[in-house]
Amino acid sequence: MENLDQLVTQAAADFGAASEPAKLEEAKARYLGKDGTLTVLLKGLGKLGPDERKSAGAAINVAKQAVESALAARRDALKNAQLAAQLASESLDVTLPGRGQSRGALHPVTRSLERIEQLFRSIGFEVADGPEIEGDWHNFTALNTPEKHPARSMHDTFYLLDELGRVQEDVLLRTHTSPVQIRYMQAHVERHKHLEHMPEIRVIAPGRVYRVDSDATHSPMFHQVEGLWVGEHVSFADLKGVVADFLRRFFESDDLKVRFRPSFFPFTEPSAEIDVAFMSGALEGRWLEIAGCGMVHPNVLRFGGIDPEKYTGFAFGMGPDRLTMLRYGINDLRLFFEGDLRFLSQFQ
Ligand code: DAH
Repeated sequence: MENLDQLVTQAAADFGAASEPAKLEEAKARYLGKDGTLTVLLKGLGKLGPDERKSAGAAINVAKQAVESALAARRDALKNAQLAAQLASESLDVTLPGRGQSRGALHPVTRSLERIEQLFRSIGFEVADGPEIEGDWHNFTALNTPEKHPARSMHDTFYLLDELGRVQEDVLLRTHTSPVQIRYMQAHVERHKHLEHMPEIRVIAPGRVYRVDSDATHSPMFHQVEGLWVGEHVSFADLKGVVADFLRRFFESDDLKVRFRPSFFPFTEPSAEIDVAFMSGALEGRWLEIAGCGMVHPNVLRFGGIDPEKYTGFAFGMGPDRLTMLRYGINDLRLFFEGDLRFLSQFQ
């Protein structure tokens, strides 16, 4: 049956020409489907006589098997080709350089705070902290700033609301780190009450403080470092020495001047503002205010549980954000708190 051989050859050629599975199934239908050539031939066997039917049937089945195996082979080939294409497109080049994970770094203000702590620890100061949500008593009253005192309006204070949304006049976000002076003095007195001689207090208290204020040099949240040294003969000269020495070490320069400018704070008497001026660099010769300070007011010592007849002390409150701006030459305070990596990653 010559035309059966031709049919098998033709089917194999059609299958080979099918470039994708759907086309292959169409080609299969032409031979093996309900009306396919081979199906029709098999159906026609019934019309033949018994002998002829036998030999024709055998020949058609041989052809059918040949077509089916050509079909199976083509199916495999298409499937393999598809897999190969998929593998090629999804391939992973393990020789490419890795993308890596960029390293984090400490925030520039955090670096300053760590540096400040380290420098004060080196001269025997402890590091303490206190709550950011403060009571009116610690934040103002115990710091010699009684109710209605005009100095309270020097600080634009964030007050907290109660459950009904009413302002609670005695609960606020601390406006400075000075309340830690009171908390620390009270705890210190309590800790040492069994001793005849109270050890000196030497402590700094770094932390966040809050005021209703926002521009290039003021942020509603900023940092302060409080300092307090209380003992039997602590003087303003000690204050000057400690602060001037600290600033030279902080800026790693002897090339700066420190000035104490008379000022007013309710919790110190006398009080001063501390200015620095660099003798070289971009800020050469300009006086910049970096802290407030003074001798602790007797009323404040009393609120802390300490006898002002026996002890004196100095205190200061400085702005580590400002110190960081000076150290790195940054002119907008808000950059510190916006979290922009283009800025922060320069401090790795
Ligand atoms: N608490 C003051 C402020 O935030 C800063 C200050 C001034 C702190 C004088 C002190 C001090 O301890 O002695 O404006």
